[in-house]
Amino acid sequence: AIERTFSIIKPDATERNLTGAVNAVIEKAGLRIVAQKRIRMTKEQAETFYAVHKARPFFGELVAFMTSGPVVVQVLEGEGAIAKYREVMGATDPSKAAEGTVRKLYAKSIGENSVHGSDAPETAAIEIAQFFSGNEIVG
Ligand code: CMP
Repeated sequence: AIERTFSIIKPDATERNLTGAVNAVIEKAGLRIVAQKRIRMTKEQAETFYAVHKARPFFGELVAFMTSGPVVVQVLEGEGAIAKYREVMGATDPSKAAEGTVRKLYAKSIGENSVHGSDAPETAAIEIAQFFSGNEIVG
């Protein structure tokens, strides 16, 4: 089925001017960028977005990193987009990511791992709605 997933190009990637490079990998995989904006996440936005990780030891570090510089939030659309984008991103830990994946190519570490992608349809819908209104998504 045609799905939509939520993507973030993280501060470690925008800092190195890699927005276009990441987008090229996304588009080469057949995913369409149907919404995109560059923002500075607030602490509140980052805490809400990562609420599921609140109890993890790295939560504070994660929120600090995600608010440390610009991010590019996106909606990606395509056949099986959620699983496909997770393949395109590669493993969370870049040292375990497959050749050609965004994280293998660009991620610096498990925390500064260049991109985020939704893990399931329910989370995709929640994450998209946190950052985009319906009329900002143009399929
Ligand atoms: P993301 O897909 O955005 O979802 C949760 C994030 O937590 C994950 O990517 C990583 O960037 C981050 N993360 C996961 N494990 C660790 C860790 N051990 N130390 C720091 N950050 C982590």
